[in-house]
Amino acid sequence: MCAEYNKNLTSYKIAVFASGTGSNFKAIVNSIENGILCSEIAVLITNNPDAGALGYAKEKGISTAVINKKLFPEENGVTTEILSALSKHGADFIILAGYMKMIGSEIVRAYRNRILNIHPALLPSFGGEGMYGIHVHEAAIKYGVRFSGVTVHIVDDAYDMGPIVLQKIVPVDQEYTPQELQKRILTEEHKIYTEAIRLFEENKIEVSGRRVIIRE
Ligand code: GRF
Repeated sequence: MCAEYNKNLTSYKIAVFASGTGSNFKAIVNSIENGILCSEIAVLITNNPDAGALGYAKEKGISTAVINKKLFPEENGVTTEILSALSKHGADFIILAGYMKMIGSEIVRAYRNRILNIHPALLPSFGGEGMYGIHVHEAAIKYGVRFSGVTVHIVDDAYDMGPIVLQKIVPVDQEYTPQELQKRILTEEHKIYTEAIRLFEENKIEVSGRRVIIRE
């Protein structure tokens, strides 16, 4: 809507993918409701019929799609179904917000430089296979890092490896438990994801190989 009043902004139709609680999803919905973001949520896609994000989307009257291997067991069934849901809802941007599945390379190709993921550490540290949820924070504390943080990156075919859009540092107090660190980082995630989407709305993002240039 706000793009009608500000010609320099792009309003995206965002598909959010979430598997769990959905606190990042909620934060994005909140930013849209408060006019901090100009985009709209086209659809919430989840693999998990019990996802908290799903309940929240329904509460807010946001379209939803539950897509998983159990429901679509044929080869490439999930990818095909996701692509069809994206097209049905006119989605032109994808936000992964705690989505616990790899997305098919066909989707990555179709939405090149238009898929973002958020990771609760400073990539490339503590990313990749097995690095999700509390495991990330356990590993960071075990390693003894003084700083951890959040990374928002563009999704490409390599897991947790795409070009970095924004990062935010969170100091690791030596008394922190993994749960405390997770809580601190999650608070920052809720702010930084909105900031990153806003940069895309403002057309300030340029991708040059691995590097993301943020124009003034
Ligand atoms: C977040 O920590 C995010 O960085 C990671 O998955 C978690 C999702 O949390 N990718 P929530 O479901 O948004 O609360």
